Amino acid sequence: MNESQIIEPQYSNALFDVRVLTLIDAEAYRTVRLSALREQPPAFGSLPEDEPNLTETAARLIESDDRCFFGAFQDEQLIGIVRLSRYAAPNEKHRAYLAGLYVMTPFRRNGCGRALVRKALSRAANTPGIRRVNLTVVTQQEAAIRLYQSLGFQIYGTEQETFSRAGCFYDEHLMTLEFNSENDCNP
Ligand SMILES: CC(C)(COP(=O)(O)OP(=O)(O)OC[C@H]1O[C@@H](n2cnc3c(N)ncnc32)[C@H](O)[C@@H]1OP(=O)(O)O)[C@@H](O)C(=O)NCCC(=O)NCCS
Repeated sequence: MNESQIIEPQYSNALFDVRVLTLIDAEAYRTVRLSALREQPPAFGSLPEDEPNLTETAARLIESDDRCFFGAFQDEQLIGIVRLSRYAAPNEKHRAYLAGLYVMTPFRRNGCGRALVRKALSRAANTPGIRRVNLTVVTQQEAAIRLYQSLGFQIYGTEQETFSRAGCFYDEHLMTLEFNSENDCNP
């Protein structure tokens, strides 16, 4: 089996290829990302109209030591995305940040979200020096919260009224996952 192919046997139709996205995925990524930003209730504070254009999106998708995007593909179609970023400051590089998790609605409840998060966590856990992954999640996004909790994330706080949309205010939980101390050496 290809190492990048994650099969979740507990789900009946699940066969995903989860891999790092590159600039050739820019158009597909942007389409999925815009779907994510348009969904109601909002899972993300960013607005669709502020999303970078295709050229900027392609540039963002170029992998670096500190940031990469993962995509889940089914039959060559991009159906889910997530981003892992490492904090930039030298005294914060022991932390990474998971963001932008989204699975297209027809493909949900089939193991895709978990496969994406697992892949990103595997990258973080295998990066020397990263000892913690943080994220924020809108408190109404119960599916995402359960998914994160099932992988060991814990809520350590709640930020009130993080953003507003159409006259409503949305709170966000702050969640963290600590790796074991073997990943504790700063590079
Ligand atoms: C959160 C999201 C990515 C989950 O994707 P998915 O592919 O449906 O998730 P999975 O099938 O891998 O489910 C993994 C776990 O998530 C939880 N979960 C997923 N959907 C759920 C739902 N509708 N209700 C309750 N729990 C749910 C369950 O714990 C599930 O494990 P189980 O199947 O063993 O019960 C998807 O619902 C989504 O894109 N939501 C909108 C965007 C969002 O909230 N993103 C988070 C931003 S921080």
